[in-house]
Amino acid sequence: MAARATADPAESTSGGRSIFDLGPGAHECWYPVALSADVPKGKVVGRDIADGRVVVYRGEDGVIRAMSAYCKHMGADLSVGGEVVGNDIRCPFHHWSYGDGGDCKHIPAGDEIPKRAKLFEFAAREQFGLIWVFFGKTPLYELQTFEDFDETKHVARSFEVQLNDKLNCEPWMFTTNVYDIAHLRSLHGINIVHSEVEEIDPYRSRMSWDADLGDKGTGGLRMEIYVYGVNSLRNKGEQGGRLKWYIGASVPSARHGTKFFMTVITTNEEGAEEFLDRQAAMHAQIMNEDLPVLNNMRLDELLLLPSDRALSRFMRSVLKYPRVTMKELERTAKMD
Ligand code: FES
Ligand SMILES: [Fe+2]
Repeated sequence: MAARATADPAESTSGGRSIFDLGPGAHECWYPVALSADVPKGKVVGRDIADGRVVVYRGEDGVIRAMSAYCKHMGADLSVGGEVVGNDIRCPFHHWSYGDGGDCKHIPAGDEIPKRAKLFEFAAREQFGLIWVFFGKTPLYELQTFEDFDETKHVARSFEVQLNDKLNCEPWMFTTNVYDIAHLRSLHGINIVHSEVEEIDPYRSRMSWDADLGDKGTGGLRMEIYVYGVNSLRNKGEQGGRLKWYIGASVPSARHGTKFFMTVITTNEEGAEEFLDRQAAMHAQIMNEDLPVLNNMRLDELLLLPSDRALSRFMRSVLKYPRVTMKELERTAKMD
């Protein structure tokens, strides 16, 4: 496990080094990595995540699998030219095959399979058209969902939010937005009427507020946001009297910056698609308002006030939250 900072974000630090300089790797969370539609049966895709890379594919049984992307033999990237064979993935270089558990199943040259020939297999889930992986040895909490989603009554749309520029901050920084009540009014023109925060367990908390969206939409917005890990939100609310549920989560994608994926759900009735179009546009607008600020912040000195209480509580939890690197996960695979 990587060393962690323990300082209080409400206190200034000296020497210009940010207490949020958390080192390589990422917080152990569920991260969205691709849309289901991008990974049909037999297709292999690669995604940068944290300080490493994951290969995602769908076996002939239709199940999504996600593993560390570099072949144990000579380091070929399995997502570049790798092929799905049955439910296994075959390296393009010398055709070693890996399957469930990340185990090497076959070496065509005939050598005995070494025990260390093992990829790290991520816990993976697929829901509402999004593929998620847990960046960590074992999931610390269940992936957020909507148990009462009913396909006869609801319609869901998942998508990657189109940001105007590469987002260079870590996912948790994006999540501070939820707790940063003051900026909702000043930067986004959303007036929060009443807010509350409740910690459920070390990995989840709940924030509720009532809001007036100003010129971003019609009708009042009632929000009850659950924050999962340090990077995901789940909200069940309504906008302008219409059901609006959403899940939004960011993922650290190395050279591609931090990406943000969403699932938005509403009732399956007249105007649903237009409603979802407007939601996608509204969330993109809000995030693009945050983007230039987040990309250019300096976090070595903070002067948080009593009205920033929710924000500083979240920042403290970020500093305590477990982190891991891809190298550590790959080492774990070899020991199993
Ligand atoms: S590098 Fe993958 S089989 Fe040789
Ligand atoms: Fe914001």
